[in-house]
Amino acid sequence: MPLRPYIVGNWKMHGTRAMLSEARAIDRAAQRHMKVEVAIAPPYTLIHPVHREAEQIAVGAQDCHHEEGGAHTGDISANMVADAGGKFVILGHSERRENHGETDAQIKAKANAALEAGLRVILCCGESEKTRDAGRAVAHVKKQLNASLPTFDEQPEDLRERVTVAYEPIWAIGTGKTATVDDIAEMHGEIRALLIKLYGEEHGGEMRILYGGSVKPENASEILSTPDVGGALVGGASLTADSFMGIALAAGETAEG
Ligand code: PGA
Repeated sequence: MPLRPYIVGNWKMHGTRAMLSEARAIDRAAQRHMKVEVAIAPPYTLIHPVHREAEQIAVGAQDCHHEEGGAHTGDISANMVADAGGKFVILGHSERRENHGETDAQIKAKANAALEAGLRVILCCGESEKTRDAGRAVAHVKKQLNASLPTFDEQPEDLRERVTVAYEPIWAIGTGKTATVDDIAEMHGEIRALLIKLYGEEHGGEMRILYGGSVKPENASEILSTPDVGGALVGGASLTADSFMGIALAAGETAEG
């Protein structure tokens, strides 16, 4: 059975406890959309509060450190995320790569640590506008993924559920611009081929590849019905239950065909 469409909210550095009512509303609405897997990644401070209240949605983190613990002021380990009730972690977001100088090798170490701690991983990739204009978008994304996707001595049985890739063209994040359906289809097709090469057809052929970058209820149906798009990573439009669940509704309708 193919995996359900995966709609993940990335709250970034937004949200105090006042936002818990929004998380509750998302959770209630998700109970009416069981054909879609809905999850949110709030700031660290809200992981446990959301976990305590959520019945349907999964809660996760937006980053983690690759070590289990130690002298790393300000960092949080994958075990700590899991201990707070987190079920997944977003890794390698372009804002982490840009603001914190994260490298592919560091992201890979984080991915392996997160999987080890029992978390699922959403690994982000994407090109800048300059790279796309130079015709190097596909090569750039493949290079990022080859160097940052986790590797295994022995693949876990549920690998296809535990690793998700999110393609987010940097120029589309928070800008209102989205890639064309043709560009998304091309990139997701390339990512699919890479996943099959790395993990085999059984896992790589089934893993979800999310699209991210200015996804909204108005453009969700078109994006989510593109081949090899298994869901969306949503920033701005995930901050209210109304707009976020509008995207989940579109995902459900797309899945039903
Ligand atoms: P956006 O952000 O939906 O606000 O463009 C997406 C993301 O950065 O994950």
